[in-house]
Amino acid sequence: MKVTVVGSGNVGATVANVLATKGFASEVVLIDIKQGLSEGKAMDIMQTAHMLNFDTTVTGVTNDYAATAGSQVVVVTSGIPRKPGMTREQLIGTNAKIVKSVVDQILEHSPEAILIIVSNPMDAMTYLTLKDTKLPRNRIIGQGGMLDSSRFRYYLSVALKEAGYPATPTDVDAMVVGGHADKTMVPLVSLATYRGIPVTQLLSDEAIQKAVEATKVGGATLTGLLGTSAWYAPGAAAAALVEAIALDAKKLIPCCVYLDGEYGEKDLCIGVPVILGKDGAEKIVEVKFSDAEQAKFNESVAAAREVNSKIAGALE
Ligand code: 2OP
Repeated sequence: MKVTVVGSGNVGATVANVLATKGFASEVVLIDIKQGLSEGKAMDIMQTAHMLNFDTTVTGVTNDYAATAGSQVVVVTSGIPRKPGMTREQLIGTNAKIVKSVVDQILEHSPEAILIIVSNPMDAMTYLTLKDTKLPRNRIIGQGGMLDSSRFRYYLSVALKEAGYPATPTDVDAMVVGGHADKTMVPLVSLATYRGIPVTQLLSDEAIQKAVEATKVGGATLTGLLGTSAWYAPGAAAAALVEAIALDAKKLIPCCVYLDGEYGEKDLCIGVPVILGKDGAEKIVEVKFSDAEQAKFNESVAAAREVNSKIAGALE
């Protein structure tokens, strides 16, 4: 299986690195407009192959889309990342044009590819890609929910530890739906468990709320600390989506997909639980939210529609 990662910045290079170490892809191509960046990152990753024991070939090219031909999955990370104090939504002006141009060039050479959109504001970029390409919705998947859920698991594990339960993030099952946006993502407290035990039975409301709020600003916290947006977890999250598709794993992962009546919404891309397999987003799973979660999901939908309304202007 051949995978292309567009954008060889921190997130793109991390996706390629995680994919290489996982070993299921025979070939990973990194592509970027910056001269030499992809070539350098690919060479650096390949020089870990012996020590990390993988056989994936990672190559890097500068703007040569012919080298990406025949990719089964393409991860789009291109665009500018946010700086401290910026929202993801403020990136739309620059990133909409970049994502549109990248996706058009990718599909020229890999017309059958499944596209994973990572560029921010991710929900709007996923919607733009769907409208621009008119591809079937199963082939366009935005990465946000996997990352936000992983952050939620982490913060819940910290809260559980503070409450006297020796939890690590892998002991926690939890999901975040809605938009990949600080104010409006929806961590689903009602479905979060510690080894099957609802966290609501083990943690105080305050402790849960602290984990929820930390999750919502998880990306912004890291942007403040790092001076640019995060990359290890965003990269690993995108690689996890590629893995579920490549291995036809049929894994349930919250992803941003186009809704056509599911959750009572139409003509919108937003995070919901999805089964990922060889055909991409193979099935949207509809779960019942608590009343409070449903109200928050509705707010998230409204916020995502508002950002989508700015796409046309951003492309002018
Ligand atoms: C994040 O949340 C980059 O949006 C990404 O860290």
